Amino acid sequence: MTDTSTAVPPRDEDDRAGRADHADHADRDAFDVLAALPARHRLMMLTMGRVVAPVVWALTELGVPDRLADGPLPVGELARGTGTHEPTLLRLLRSAASFGVFAEEPDGRFRLTPMSRFLRADAEQSVRDLVLMNGTELFWRPYEAILHTARTGRPAFDHVFGTSLFEYLEDRPDLAGLFHRAMTAASRRGSAAVAAVLDLPPGARVADVGGGQGYLLAEVLRRHPGCRGLLFDRPAAVEDARDFLAGRDLADRTECVAGDFFTEVPGGCDAYLLKHVLHDWDDDDAVRILRSVRRAAGDDGRVHVIEMVTGELNTLDVVRLLDIDMLVSAGGRERSAGEYQRLAAAAGLRLTGRRAAAGTTVLEFRAEVSAG
Ligand SMILES: C[S@@+](CC[C@H](N)C(=O)[O-])C[C@H]1O[C@@H](n2cnc3c(N)ncnc32)[C@H](O)[C@@H]1O
Repeated sequence: MTDTSTAVPPRDEDDRAGRADHADHADRDAFDVLAALPARHRLMMLTMGRVVAPVVWALTELGVPDRLADGPLPVGELARGTGTHEPTLLRLLRSAASFGVFAEEPDGRFRLTPMSRFLRADAEQSVRDLVLMNGTELFWRPYEAILHTARTGRPAFDHVFGTSLFEYLEDRPDLAGLFHRAMTAASRRGSAAVAAVLDLPPGARVADVGGGQGYLLAEVLRRHPGCRGLLFDRPAAVEDARDFLAGRDLADRTECVAGDFFTEVPGGCDAYLLKHVLHDWDDDDAVRILRSVRRAAGDDGRVHVIEMVTGELNTLDVVRLLDIDMLVSAGGRERSAGEYQRLAAAAGLRLTGRRAAAGTTVLEFRAEVSAG
């Protein structure tokens, strides 16, 4: 058998003839292309997402999107810059280009596309850290045991790693750092809009519970200049948050407190935010967290639950996929606004407001105070 592993694949006539089409295709939305396929073919392409995700992850991990920031490059130059095997890098790039992530020019150079621009580290609304996180053992290996989850309803993560996601992160500062950077990347999208719709009393003290690196809190304090902030999270996140908030000149308006929201949440704030926290937990744990926050908020405080809520059935909805991610990795779930309302009621909170903000929903609750 001929060993072709080090040979650059031949650029034959077929290859060249197809290239102009490929360049056109690259600027069409890959999902439109998928929608036009016959059902069987479409199904197979969907299940081949198994290949697409790690290819995009590998190219991102290798720094290819950043190297293409100034314009198209030949694969040889990309291979030298990334320390990779040129013929293999070509195959990886071509497979990503077949989904419109990168494009091959008629002269054989590769360039960014509207999708891969978001893989650059310095892109506005970059998803680089999210893609890098999704390719780590944290969110990849649990899927090996999805049948365990299907049979038991329990998170595959715990089955595979012998511990829960957040406990695992405590012992892996490298992965915890990436996890929190990825959460911040996700927060960049909607936080300004959330801050704009929050109904806060003037001069309020605002706590962000499970606030990660502090991106949302910083946006809230920017939007509400008279307010002060408290960030509450596990120790690893709080250290990052201190640096992040100091970097935004907010050190003197904020306090960062490490702790466990199942035990106690600091009291004395006028408003408590819980953004993308409850979806990590099953109903019983979500009610325990809400009860801790209800106790901290007292009878007068406001509690704002900020989540992407589930929408219509049978529609293409990323929340339905995140629901499975939450289930498999942490035993959590995505919920409808009504489901959040029921959990809050079980913790002694009544709904007092609901606002939409850039793909997320802000539900405002106050304490249910019994008369007399
Ligand atoms: C999905 S992240 C959301 C982070 C942030 N609110 C955001 O929207 O980007 C969930 C957060 O809950 C924190 N967390 C998990 N368990 C916790 C606990 N027992 N006590 C306090 N925070 C916890 C995590 O460290 C993480 O920052």
